[in-house]
Amino acid sequence: MKRDLAKQKAQELLSKMTTEEKVAQMIQVTYTDGGREEALKWAKMGAGSFLHVLGDDARELQREAMNTRLGIPVIFGIDAIHGHGLNTKATIFPSQLACACSWDPEVAKVMGEVTAREVATDGLHWTFSPVLCLGRDPRWGRVNETFGEDPYLAGELSAAIIEGYQGEDLSDDEHILACAKHYLGYGEATGARDAYDTEVTERKIREVFLPPFKRAVDVGCATIMTAYGCIDGTPLTAHRRILHDILRDEMGFDGFVITDWDNTQSLMTQQHVSADIVDASIKAASAGNDMIMTTKGFYEGMLTALREGKVDISVVDECVLHILTIKYEMELFEKPEKKGEPGCFGKAEHLEAAKDAARKSVTLLRNNGMLPLGDGELKKIAVIGENADNVRAQYGDWTYFTHPMPDPTNSRPAFRPYVTLWEGVKEICDEKGIEAVYAKGCAVKPAEGVDESADLDEAVRVASEADVILYAVGDVIPQFGEFADRADLDLSGRQSELFYRLKATGKPICTVFIASKPLCLGDAAEKADAVITGFNGGMFAGQALAEAIFGKLNPQGKLPISFPRKTGQVPVYYNQLPGWHGGKYWDIPQTPLFAFGEGMGYSAFAYEGLSLDEELKLRVTVKNVGDTEGTETVQIYQRDVVSSLLTPVRRLIAFTKVTLGAGEAKEVEIQLKKDDFALVNAECETVVEPGDFILYAGGSSKEEDLISINIAF
Ligand code: NOJ
Repeated sequence: MKRDLAKQKAQELLSKMTTEEKVAQMIQVTYTDGGREEALKWAKMGAGSFLHVLGDDARELQREAMNTRLGIPVIFGIDAIHGHGLNTKATIFPSQLACACSWDPEVAKVMGEVTAREVATDGLHWTFSPVLCLGRDPRWGRVNETFGEDPYLAGELSAAIIEGYQGEDLSDDEHILACAKHYLGYGEATGARDAYDTEVTERKIREVFLPPFKRAVDVGCATIMTAYGCIDGTPLTAHRRILHDILRDEMGFDGFVITDWDNTQSLMTQQHVSADIVDASIKAASAGNDMIMTTKGFYEGMLTALREGKVDISVVDECVLHILTIKYEMELFEKPEKKGEPGCFGKAEHLEAAKDAARKSVTLLRNNGMLPLGDGELKKIAVIGENADNVRAQYGDWTYFTHPMPDPTNSRPAFRPYVTLWEGVKEICDEKGIEAVYAKGCAVKPAEGVDESADLDEAVRVASEADVILYAVGDVIPQFGEFADRADLDLSGRQSELFYRLKATGKPICTVFIASKPLCLGDAAEKADAVITGFNGGMFAGQALAEAIFGKLNPQGKLPISFPRKTGQVPVYYNQLPGWHGGKYWDIPQTPLFAFGEGMGYSAFAYEGLSLDEELKLRVTVKNVGDTEGTETVQIYQRDVVSSLLTPVRRLIAFTKVTLGAGEAKEVEIQLKKDDFALVNAECETVVEPGDFILYAGGSSKEEDLISINIAF
């Protein structure tokens, strides 16, 4: 149903609703708080939505909702963040950060489509995804959930995944609602402290944090989630300028806004800007939050406020109208349950999509010629490290391991199919007749009081008898996620010590980084013969990494985020403002350990002939100068030479992928827009200032990987 008609129908229904029914419609109840009985009570009261409930439990709630006076169906939301991962049967994709290594919107779109189908098959309607926060400070626990540090790349991938989730028609049985979150600036919280104050100006918001949301709104994202934190002291939950004026009036958002978990209650209990729930409820609704996640106290709070004349019913009407409009547009009244495709969990096509995503996300960061491992004289391979065979670490956040339902014990077994690094390597070794041996060595996050010395000795012994060493390092679940920021990004436990001891064997060593986000790898990267990563690559991460290590796959990933050398060096994102006094720390090199856009394969690419014509068509010739076919991500950056205020040293404005055979060259064409050269001026206007610009093309954001021309407007 078209949105206009949906709005008309919503208006008609609204006129029949009592005040209590309206306020209940704004509430989203979690199944995990109070369980079935409590949830059924709220369904009878006419709650608008539930979250974290699956399959038959959801169907039961829907039947109750349909039995109420007006029979308004509920909408079910779930954190299907990289696959419908809270369901043990689902296909698990790479995390958003891992997926972003592919720089491939099609990968993100397919991930959205498959996830939508599996969520819909559970009878559910809505995923709280994608995350549009930027991962500019790796200390933040939720960097794994972002598409990386760059607003343009994040915007492109978000648009693609939203299209994958939502399809062309919200009523389609195999598509679900997307939710762009967390609006706004959550990832930029001071000190990378989860759910804290973000000290940014409105100009900075417009320059850096708003563009991905604008992109999401433009592709029709149906819902937006408000961030936990505050901007310069004003809670986002109470920020009408951001939630209403900018989002609706300016950007044209026409769906509904949901708070994050207990945001309304937090106005009172955490942020101390409301003395009681009545005031908190008024603030949340008046600012532009249409649906209230988990704060059930909003119901009484808002009814009291209305009774006492502290708020006008028109505030509630506007919120409910937004919710009902989407419900009508989804044709929820006719089809209260999404059908999906019965039995589609983990079907072959879905698993293939997860495998393809993992393969395209593998990123090779260093290689002195050790990789790919040849067949020749290799007789024995040592695979070392906990994360080489730890499926929980490989999956990362937001699966049944981290958010188990309905039983919150966190003790779930791992459900097949999945392939760890050790399993992937072993399989290829078996095929090739190479002996493979595994030793854990040390825990990523050691249990207190446990002496691991014997395990380290054993790993070194195993490694010294092998021809090459694959050493997996990284992080494990308690070290990241919500409430889990890190003050120290160095490799934890005895991982670095073990690296030195393995290195001392004199055997070639490849560091395999299986982690949620960049860490300070130090010598485990700098002194390794090769470094390869897939971050949290999902079900088939281990297989994809093994294929790349043995050259069955030519890695094509590029980093969507920079790696700091030291924790004290953050932030190291590439698009910084130009510094003065050298802009550097005297005790470390100025560059990041690995830069945004960096990533190599077994081919090499050369660029020449960059040009831009009057119609802003960019052309550049890319040549595969290696001896094997490979895929390159062509990255286009610009720099404003002189501007009215400081602009970043480089800004990504376009990218495309090209596959070339050995020795093959191709002229790549990219259509640019004038707006790609815009800045946000001191008056907060987006303008292109006349003058000179530098246009760059190349295979990473690093100066040495780029060719450039000067242009002028
Ligand atoms: C809190 C998280 O911040 C948000 O991302 C998530 O969608 C909600 N909880 C619901 O689980």
